[in-house]
Amino acid sequence: MSNENGMAPGQIIKVLVGVVVFLVVAIWLLAKLATSGFNVDAEVMTKEAVAARLKPVGESKASDAPPGMRTGEQVYKAICMSCHATGLAGSPKFGDAAAWAPRVGKGWDMLVDHALHGFNAMPAKGGSPDLSDDEVKRAVAYMGNAAGAKFTEPPVGGAEGAAAADPAVVGKKIYDSVCMACHAAGVAGAPKFGDKAAWAVRLKPGIDEVVKIATKGLNAMPAKGGYTGSDAEFRAAVEYMVNNSK
Ligand code: HEC
Ligand code: HEC
Repeated sequence: MSNENGMAPGQIIKVLVGVVVFLVVAIWLLAKLATSGFNVDAEVMTKEAVAARLKPVGESKASDAPPGMRTGEQVYKAICMSCHATGLAGSPKFGDAAAWAPRVGKGWDMLVDHALHGFNAMPAKGGSPDLSDDEVKRAVAYMGNAAGAKFTEPPVGGAEGAAAADPAVVGKKIYDSVCMACHAAGVAGAPKFGDKAAWAVRLKPGIDEVVKIATKGLNAMPAKGGYTGSDAEFRAAVEYMVNNSK
């Protein structure tokens, strides 16, 4: 008996076994390839993931943190490290307990004073006058503690910092000292503080537009209500009034 290809049943079985063996080998090879392929991917992913995790801690956060809000570590890495990492110009080296012991012995107040105002080859604020005093103090604490001291790093956004950075607090302060004069009683047709209906009409074009109009001034409303501070602060005052009139 033969089929249309002229093969005997015995031959057909041989061919079938051959195909099965080929398939098994091929699948095994593909599986191996796929596995090692995934391994490479996993490695790349890990490298990328590590880099992504390291970056915010190392570089970017030092510069991304708003001014005045950098931690001691961030200030150290951004500024103080350039000398203190290697002990440049005779600076006490980071983490060197022996070099720091006599310094720490001078006491927190004197160290802070020297870091703020300079001391021999140590420039005032490490040469970065834009650092806030608290940022310098945090860096002193960070460096001192890395060498065995027990300083308390002034908290970032402590009571003072948090209040200064919170737009609601800023807005209220400006409202109380400037805008209230007209907006509390609705002088000269000013929309009254807390008057939902009056503010709803004003807010129709959206808060951005309202801020723009008020920044320029409108009829009896002087430019920025007469406020002389920054646009961002003025906006905080507008938002404070708006949020309390909804
Ligand atoms: C340009 C190099 C340089 C930079 C940048 C620098 N320092 Fe220094 N720092 C020095 C040197 C040099 C000394 C040692 C001065 C000495 O004892 O005569 C020193 C000493 C100090 C001391 C010990 C002061 C004392 O009374 O013994 C503190 C604290 C200090 N630095 C903090 C800082 C901080 C915080 C920063 C970053 C904001 C910083 N330094 C950045 C060079 C630098
Ligand atoms: C001298 C009085 C006066 C002071 C001070 C004042 N305003 Fe006004 N303000 C007005 C008057 C009047 C209007 C209404 C103007 C109109 O529609 O003709 C007004 C309107 C506004 C509006 C609505 C603008 C719009 O698009 O309709 C905003 C927002 C506003 N003021 C914010 C402020 C803020 C914030 C301050 C404080 C920093 C402030 N004003 C201080 C008088 C004042």
